[in-house]
Amino acid sequence: MRILGIETSCDETGIAIYDDEKGILANYLYSQSNIHSNYGGVVPELASRDHIRKTIPLIQAALKKAHLTGKDLNGVAYTAGPGLVGSLLVGATIGLALAFAWGLPAIPVHHMEGHLLAPMLENNPPSFPFIALLVSGGHTQLISVTEIGKYEMLGESIDDAVGEAFDKIAKLLGLNYPGGPLLSKIAQKGKTGRFFFPRPMINRPGLDFSFSGLKTFAANTIRNNIVDSQTRADIACAFEDAIVDTLAIKCRRALEQKGFKYLVIAGGVSANVKLRSHLKNMMIQRGGKIFYARPEFCTDNGAMITYAGMVRLKNNIHSSLKISVHPRWPLANLSEV
Ligand code: KG4
Ligand code: ZN
Repeated sequence: MRILGIETSCDETGIAIYDDEKGILANYLYSQSNIHSNYGGVVPELASRDHIRKTIPLIQAALKKAHLTGKDLNGVAYTAGPGLVGSLLVGATIGLALAFAWGLPAIPVHHMEGHLLAPMLENNPPSFPFIALLVSGGHTQLISVTEIGKYEMLGESIDDAVGEAFDKIAKLLGLNYPGGPLLSKIAQKGKTGRFFFPRPMINRPGLDFSFSGLKTFAANTIRNNIVDSQTRADIACAFEDAIVDTLAIKCRRALEQKGFKYLVIAGGVSANVKLRSHLKNMMIQRGGKIFYARPEFCTDNGAMITYAGMVRLKNNIHSSLKISVHPRWPLANLSEV
């Protein structure tokens, strides 16, 4: 069975073809970061317009790479939400039009389920049940996963998402958008211990997060210091440590609460090297196991959409050809498979 996947929820056009026996046959990603970096964040109208330019040529390239035509596919999966409404509409309209033209089922995919299932594309996929930490530019969530489609929200950010906090502090440090990976890179040269940032909400019970106070603390530190390149690295390091520690404490709490042994981390921030190694050590000490995808499957991509689409199509879940997207779409509302 082969599926074409279309991801256009934000500022990346991701197109992939997945074969359930052979794996990923083609995977193309076009990032609009150059377009948005002048503005320090994603400009929705520019994002939709660029998806219009890139989606069809990338689908053609993917079919060519896989030596396939539309007739060789079994379904078209597209991201139906959550995300920017204009961007979502581009992918949904193209996906549904192709499904109509090729006589195939169309599968609307939840972007965060795509992220959550991305580690399933790796050689050593996670087994159920597990705690999932979803950390992206728009979401910070802890979820209990007992099966695909059975998602219980344990906690989430009450304000900024982790990725958003990374990007905002990176911007104050003079780094380009999206700043998360760049901040992480300069943090490697930072001296641990010169600055210490708070670990928000760790003394309160529960599994929710808040990053706006930490962000303000970091912003004040930047304002109150002469920020030469070493100071920049030291601040980046202290900021990253505070985020990693906070996430680790809440992951541990969620694992204890549920009595689970497996942790899955997914979403753009799960590409963060310090987060991966810190949580890996924590899981080794706990006698458990951590699962994450290769870095290019952590950030937005089409491959994760094909996988989630494949699982749903195999369970006979697909949509009518009516164009409908969900800019806000709680993960826990998804149907079980
Ligand atoms: O999942 P994603 O690609 O898009 C959304 O669904 O939001 O996540 C993007 C976010 C951005 O905020 C980006 O700065 C952050 O993930 N990110 C990172 C790293 N790589 C991506 N943050 C910290 N360290 C990284 N290595
Ligand atoms: Zn994403």
